[in-house]
Amino acid sequence: MEKFVINGGIPLNGEVTVSGAKNAALAIIPAAILCNDVCRIENIPVSISDVRYMISTLKYIGANVRFIDKSTIEIDSRNVNSYMITHDMTKHLRASYYFIGALLGRFGRARVAMPGGCYLGPRPIDQHIKGFEALGATISVEDNAIVEADSVKLFGAPVYLDIVSVGATVNIMLAAARAEGLTIIENAAKEPHIVDLANFLNSMGADIRGAGTDVIKIRGKENLHGCTYTIIPDQIEAGTFMVAAAATRGDVIIKNVIPKHLESISTKLVECGADIEEYDEAVRVSMTGRPGRCNIKTMPHPGFPTDMQPQMAVLLSLADGTSLISESIWSNRFKYTEQLLRMGAKITIDGQIAMIHGVEKLKGAPVKADDLRAGAAMIIAGLCAEGRTEIEDIMHIKRGYENVVEKFGNLGADIKMIYTIDPFDINCVG
Ligand code: UD1
Repeated sequence: MEKFVINGGIPLNGEVTVSGAKNAALAIIPAAILCNDVCRIENIPVSISDVRYMISTLKYIGANVRFIDKSTIEIDSRNVNSYMITHDMTKHLRASYYFIGALLGRFGRARVAMPGGCYLGPRPIDQHIKGFEALGATISVEDNAIVEADSVKLFGAPVYLDIVSVGATVNIMLAAARAEGLTIIENAAKEPHIVDLANFLNSMGADIRGAGTDVIKIRGKENLHGCTYTIIPDQIEAGTFMVAAAATRGDVIIKNVIPKHLESISTKLVECGADIEEYDEAVRVSMTGRPGRCNIKTMPHPGFPTDMQPQMAVLLSLADGTSLISESIWSNRFKYTEQLLRMGAKITIDGQIAMIHGVEKLKGAPVKADDLRAGAAMIIAGLCAEGRTEIEDIMHIKRGYENVVEKFGNLGADIKMIYTIDPFDINCVG
C-alpha cells in the first residue's frame, strides 16, 4: 500500500510550476476522435491516472497514441473503429462519459458503460441525454449500466440546460461539432476548460462561439482535421498550491497559471489575510500570522469552485473565528471533514453547510484521502499540522495531481511516499 508521510509545520517557500489542466485534458482527449487525423496535444498532464485511463480508452477503440515528451502526446484517430466501451474501461473515472458525445459525433452511435469516479452524491446524466436527443439521437439506458445512443444523422438544435452542468455542456459540444446545422446551448457551463475545449475544437476546424458565456453556438461541420494545441494550466492545482502557501504561512510563486481563472480563489484568500501579487503567468501568495475567517459558497464558474472547497476548509480550520462553507454543487462533499476532526479541527455539518470553528493548531494523525480533492486537503492539513501525518488511499490524489512529492518537496515540505504491507491483505504472501 502506498502512503504519503508528512512531517508538518514547515512554511512553504519557493516556486512551483503548475501542470496542464486535468479537466480540460479529459474533454480534449475524446474530442480528438472527432477527426480522422492526427492531433498533437501539448501541456497535457500525462502522469496523472485520469489522463492515463482516458488514453487507454482511446487505444481500446483503435486510436494510436504516441508519447512525445513528458507533457506532449499525439493522438492518431484514423484507425478508430469501435463505438463500444465496456465497464472495465469506464469504471475508473467520470469523464469517460465524454466518449458518448465524441462517438456520436464520429459515428452517429455509441455504446458506453456508465462511468465511475469520485462519489460526491448522485450524479445523474439526464441533461446529457436531453441534449443528445435534441440533436436527433435515440438514447436508451440498459439496466442503469450501459448508455446506447443511436442516430441516422445528427442535426443542430437549441438545448436549454435545466441545471448548469460542465459534463452536459462538454458532451453536447462534442456531438454538435459534427451535427448538421446550428446548436445553441443555453444556460451552458462557463468553466475555463469549456473555453479550452471550444478552442481545441475550433483548431480542428469547428465553428464554436460564445464558450465562456452561458450561450454557446456550435455550427456543425461535416469534417474536422488534426491540429496542434496547448492545454491551459490547471486552475485547481494552482488553487491548491495557493491555499497550501497561505495555510502554512509561507511565500510561494506559482508559475504557469492564468490569474483570471484564479480570481474567486484569490478573493477569498485575501479576505482571510493573504497577500497576493499577480503577474502575467504567475501568482505569488504569502501569509504572515493566523488566517482570518470567511464564508464560502461553491458555485459554477466564475463562482468559488466546488473542487477548492476541501482545501479551503483546512485553511479555515486554522482561522481566527468561525466560518461557514455552503456546498451547492454536490450533496455529499463533506465526508473528508471526518478526517480533519481526527487532526483536531472543529467542524459541524448540517446538510450542505459546514460550520468551521478555527483552532490554533492541527495535530498530525493517520488519515485517508476519501476522494481527489479531499486528498489534496489532507496534504495541506498534514503540511500545517504539528507532527507526523500519514495519508492512505493516495490513488485518489494521483488521479489529479502530478509529481506531488517532488512539487511540495521543492517548496521545502517534508513529504515522502512510502510503501507498506497491509497485514490484512490476504493476497500478501510471506
Ligand atoms: C462538477 C463541477 C466541476 C467539478 C466536478 C468535480 C460545477 C458546475 N461542476 O462537474 O466544477 O470539477 O464536478 O468535482 O461546478 N447534474 C444533473 N444532471 C445532469 C448533469 C449534472 O442533475 O445531467 C447535476 C449534478 O448532479 C451536480 C450538478 O448538476 O449537482 C453539476 O454537475 P456537472 O457540472 O455535470 O458535474 P461535473 O461535470 O462532474
